[in-house]
Amino acid sequence: MKNHYKDTLKGNTLPNPVGQWPLLVSKWHNLVGQTKSVMLPTERLKEKAGRQAAKLISPGMTFGLGTGSTVKWLIEELQDRFPKNANLTVVPTSEQSARLARQAGWQIKELNEVERLELTIDGADEADPSGNLIKGGGGALLREKLVAAASDKLVIIADPTKLVEKLGKFPLPVEVIPFGYTHVQRKIKEQFGVAGIQLRSKGQEPFITDSGNFILDVEFGVIDDPAALDKALQIIPGVVETGLFVGMAHSLIHTRPDGGITEKEF
Ligand code: 5RP
Repeated sequence: MKNHYKDTLKGNTLPNPVGQWPLLVSKWHNLVGQTKSVMLPTERLKEKAGRQAAKLISPGMTFGLGTGSTVKWLIEELQDRFPKNANLTVVPTSEQSARLARQAGWQIKELNEVERLELTIDGADEADPSGNLIKGGGGALLREKLVAAASDKLVIIADPTKLVEKLGKFPLPVEVIPFGYTHVQRKIKEQFGVAGIQLRSKGQEPFITDSGNFILDVEFGVIDDPAALDKALQIIPGVVETGLFVGMAHSLIHTRPDGGITEKEF
């Protein structure tokens, strides 16, 4: 398989649409008018976005905790800011985030235990100018969508490589039940004429989600109508959830290539 990267948190392998962005370069002008390049590694830009979002959390709060390497920085910053007895409670969107929250000494609740959440903070694989998202690169899309849907506010944290004019460069994760998944795979391929569709793997085995399902990574190319595509996929028997989050994000906190922060409301 070419052009793949290792998701450092889950250890699963998935296509790398951002292989061309190992480092981001931004230009600035010095006092004598020369153009200089400032190179910030993507990880640093994730860190800044994650740390910035920690400002939304106060002691005693219950909030939805997303999944991924950007969220990991949010967790770091919250640990730096608050003592262990700050009484933070989270509804995690994955077993992995639950583990990190437990290590931080926070209380954990299941989604069933809360009526509503005032806030969830999560990452994204792509975000368009209207705040529509592709999520699920880390394989947590199902729980992420359920927690987001139960939240009054979904705040997305992202580095600038995630910003796109139109969704679709990142292969769309579609969670499917393992039973008969090859039929779902074939159906999607035929119905949408997609460029590629891969069963996500972890080593030699299929990647298994926290809910015991498989993930198909589907290369749609440019997605002109995310809502229509989401609907069309959802009605295929065997599809559990898609990584399209349409109209769900309330705000986006993203870093710019120079390390500055932009916050956008939708
Ligand atoms: C996990 C997700 C993540 O939010 C998304 O993959 C972004 O991850 P990262 O912050 O590591 O770039 O949807 O299912």
